Amino acid sequence: MNNSLFEKYKLNEKLQLKNRIIMAPMTRCKAIKNLIPNPAMGQYYARRADAGLIITEGTIISADGQGYPNTPGIFTADQINGWKYITDEVHTADGKIFLQLWHVGRASHPMYLNGALPVAPSAIGLKGRMSYTNFFYETPRALALKEIPKYIEYYANAALNAIEANFDGVEIHGANGYLIDQFLHHSTNIRTDDYGVTPEGMSRFLLEIIDAIATVIDKKRVGIRLSPGAYVLEIERDRRDAQVFEFLLKEIEKRQIAYIHTAIEHDINIVFDYLGGKVSSFVRKNYYGNLIACGSYNPILAANAIENNEFDLIAFARLFLANPDLIKKIKAGEALFTYHNDLLKEVN
Ligand SMILES: Cc1cc2nc3c(=O)[nH]c(=O)nc-3n(C[C@H](O)[C@H](O)[C@H](O)COP(=O)(O)O)c2cc1C
Repeated sequence: MNNSLFEKYKLNEKLQLKNRIIMAPMTRCKAIKNLIPNPAMGQYYARRADAGLIITEGTIISADGQGYPNTPGIFTADQINGWKYITDEVHTADGKIFLQLWHVGRASHPMYLNGALPVAPSAIGLKGRMSYTNFFYETPRALALKEIPKYIEYYANAALNAIEANFDGVEIHGANGYLIDQFLHHSTNIRTDDYGVTPEGMSRFLLEIIDAIATVIDKKRVGIRLSPGAYVLEIERDRRDAQVFEFLLKEIEKRQIAYIHTAIEHDINIVFDYLGGKVSSFVRKNYYGNLIACGSYNPILAANAIENNEFDLIAFARLFLANPDLIKKIKAGEALFTYHNDLLKEVN
């Protein structure tokens, strides 16, 4: 296959990608003791280094940000050193790799927090059981206004640590119902202070994170993942969220970061009436920077959508897990293996 997917793509003057195919972030729960990345992850990522850009699995920015077992961190010296080995493997294989910065907010549990409650914008809990354990989620505690700067600093420190670990940049995980996304939706943010109520207030936490990160690393090396449409972790559909994201997207645009990456799982055609269509077209309408789409695309659909200018780059998650040589296979028109959950057990 010879098409737009294999064109070089200049994200900005700092980052030239060798094609338009991105490896989407995938949590794999393979970290070793103290949330240090497993050296075997070096080979896992290096095998996929012919992607235009790899985005790592979500990586915990502070000790209270964890919500799943053995997810790696980026807040201790040992974790930074562990990641150096992995970035080195990817760079040796001529790849580029961003670290995804993650705090799960209310999706954590006292079992990860020495008995403390998870933090969130508001004290509204998830209802079901946590994955990987038999525990039910507990109601989080709302962050006090005076604590918020500390959390913004966690993100900025984590970004700085990522650069120290030789990552090419960072992706702020602002999607999928985790801490940042909890600020952006009315069903999880009922704060009455400066971090709630209006589109401006609800966007403030994320915009302050972007600004804090931009003071410590080059903003051209910062991307963000967003999910304006409610579809996961009990974020509820609320028409008012559209105004929050319209405001937010225009503010992100002003900041001239590397890209926005949309997250939708398992349904390419999912449409949100209150966003006026698909998530990627809603973002495209409100943001003119680089746009990465993701979610159940196959290479042909993705190439067509790029040619129609619906977005600029495509991220594949499950296809990349099932096919380490995805780029070669797409180029050669070879059949692709389909994803199944057993693949998560394998290290590479
Ligand atoms: C095993 C697995 C782990 C995932 N972990 C993350 C993650 O850490 N961060 C994130 O933003 N999305 C995560 N996702 C979502 C994917 O990045 C992607 O949005 C989703 O799988 C849809 O893309 P696909 O159809 O190409 O698989 C994960 C998906 C899978 C299947």
